[in-house]
Amino acid sequence: MSVPVGVLISGRGSNMQALVKACAAPDFPAHIALVIANCADSEGLKFAHERGIKIKLIEHTDFETREAFEAALHTTLSEAGVDIVCLAGFMRLLGAGFVRVWKGKLINIHPSLLPAFRGLNTHRRALESGVKQHGCTVHFVSVKMDEGPIIGQTEVPVYETDTVDTLSSRVLAAEHQLYPKCLQLVAQGDFRSLGFEGR
Ligand code: GRF
Repeated sequence: MSVPVGVLISGRGSNMQALVKACAAPDFPAHIALVIANCADSEGLKFAHERGIKIKLIEHTDFETREAFEAALHTTLSEAGVDIVCLAGFMRLLGAGFVRVWKGKLINIHPSLLPAFRGLNTHRRALESGVKQHGCTVHFVSVKMDEGPIIGQTEVPVYETDTVDTLSSRVLAAEHQLYPKCLQLVAQGDFRSLGFEGR
């Protein structure tokens, strides 16, 4: 059985691309049913469209409230039969209503070893703090930002010569490996965390 996945992006979409490529393997337990972007200039949309994946632009600026924007997201995902939602560089905070409806089926990738460096500018903050290990985390989304149960993490070393650019490239390469592995676990129903048994 192949689980239909919806991916939400805002920009470049390189993690979405990694998921699309992983899903192309015949034995992968999920497929990308839909890619939604909230910004018209999201480069990732073109990539998905060229591969025959259904795409949809839902711009948050077209809605008066966050709830209305999220209702449009929810309707579009549901109509496409989506069973797991992957946030991949989706730069809008999702409200409690949306998060609760998709609980256990909504996952995110974050560019740090959570619980360290929640929020933005993780690579700069990692360099400033002097940590020797940094990395990325895939986790279920809960109502509190960057706090849901962790599905998987990858560590990368931090070198004294690192800049934000070199460190973020190293982390991004790790993200592209980690996200498909974690999606596979969730799609197979192999991941269990108290209260998050969505599938
Ligand atoms: C990634 O670093 C991801 O961890 C973060 O936003 C970035 C998105 O990059 N949430 P991309 O759009 O997937 O290339």
